[in-house]
Amino acid sequence: MSDRQKTLLLTGASRGIGHATVRKFNREGWRVITCSRHPFPEQCPWGGGAENHVEIDLSDPADTINAVGLIQEKAGGYLDALVNNAGISPKGPNGERLSTLNTDLRDWGHVFHVNFFASVVLARGLMDELAAAKGSVVNVTSIAGSRVHPFAGAAYATSKAALAALTREMAHDFGPLGVRVNAIAPGEVKTAILSPGTEKIVDQLPLRRLGQPEEVADVIYFLCSDASSYISGTEIEVNGGQHV
Ligand SMILES: NC(=O)c1ccc[n+]([C@@H]2O[C@H](COP(=O)([O-])OP(=O)(O)OC[C@H]3O[C@@H](n4cnc5c(N)ncnc54)[C@H](OP(=O)(O)O)[C@@H]3O)[C@@H](O)[C@H]2O)c1
Repeated sequence: MSDRQKTLLLTGASRGIGHATVRKFNREGWRVITCSRHPFPEQCPWGGGAENHVEIDLSDPADTINAVGLIQEKAGGYLDALVNNAGISPKGPNGERLSTLNTDLRDWGHVFHVNFFASVVLARGLMDELAAAKGSVVNVTSIAGSRVHPFAGAAYATSKAALAALTREMAHDFGPLGVRVNAIAPGEVKTAILSPGTEKIVDQLPLRRLGQPEEVADVIYFLCSDASSYISGTEIEVNGGQHV
């Protein structure tokens, strides 16, 4: 084992759970290659700065495939972790839940490109770097992947269920390369993705409070660290007991 600095590639790094994850891995001494649709903000003290940032629109398959080469260049042969965190949860024009009856198929496809296919493209494209580092992949799913949720739409829920199934399949396929693959399924975490009315759900939760992005980032870090060296193919619920 060399004393090479560990490297994380993180999607959806600009806000919420992703931003808390950048801060956690930075504190632990990792280099973080960040991805989002926007340029790296000059004033941001976190992450590795603009030279470790990749602008990608994950809803565009060609853009995502093309970005793999640039990420490989930045990774320099080793990737210790890939965290597929970017996700979208579209609502109707008045903020209402989109169901199986009224979700436009193009919107459904858009959600699947960001929430599901991008994870496959990145993991497969970076397989050699992950294998070289005996790295770890973490897919960020959702409680909505396993039950109907009052605010999360059908496209979002099915994309997260597919991502949980992908985690199982990837754990099987990447395991022989020494790469572990796990998922974390957040419940109600205080970020911009939450809908008005979430307070009513929170009142019913065993822990009676929202989760903080930092509490999710800590679990992501655990799954990328040696503390979880024999865990693969697992989905960890991070939801204050919401699933019971
Ligand atoms: N918060 C919760 O309660 C909760 C619950 C269950 C699951 N989750 C999951 O946790 C993950 C993070 O959620 P969050 O609450 O932190 O979300 P958020 O605050 O809305 O942030 C979403 C992130 O995804 C990126 N993103 C969105 N569309 C993109 C695209 N087309 N291409 C590239 N990047 C894109 C955004 O970056 P840019 O806008 O800069 O591109 C942003 O960094 C998501 O997968 C979400 O489904 C969250």
